[in-house]
Amino acid sequence: MYENMLRGDARMDEGTITVRVYRFDPEKEAAGRLEEHRVASAAPLSVMALLARVHELDASFCCRTATCFKGKCGSCLVRANGRDVFGCTTLVQPGETVTVEPHSRFAVVRDVVVDFARPLAAGKEAAE
Ligand code: FES
Repeated sequence: MYENMLRGDARMDEGTITVRVYRFDPEKEAAGRLEEHRVASAAPLSVMALLARVHELDASFCCRTATCFKGKCGSCLVRANGRDVFGCTTLVQPGETVTVEPHSRFAVVRDVVVDFARPLAAGKEAAE
């Protein structure tokens, strides 16, 4: 959905990673939106590290805390640039932009946090 929007500006400042995070509070809002943050980094960072930095910048942003960091437990599942991925093992290079949304197969609790006990019906995506 947002992938085409990212292609035109994938390379920006080499010491910065642009992170667009999905924000949605189902108790207060009818629809989600993207919010942009810039994270200073000269080295690649995992999507989970980027989400933690966004949380440091804005404590109201909700994301899970990764636990295994090995791509095994699945607690870090999110959608990055339109693909469902393990956030702990997916790296973003300095100068790139990443859009992080809830994993497409589960109901959104808030922001990028999903309820793994509530899978969505086939054909329905979390961030619509
Ligand atoms: S933290 Fe366990 S799979 Fe990513």
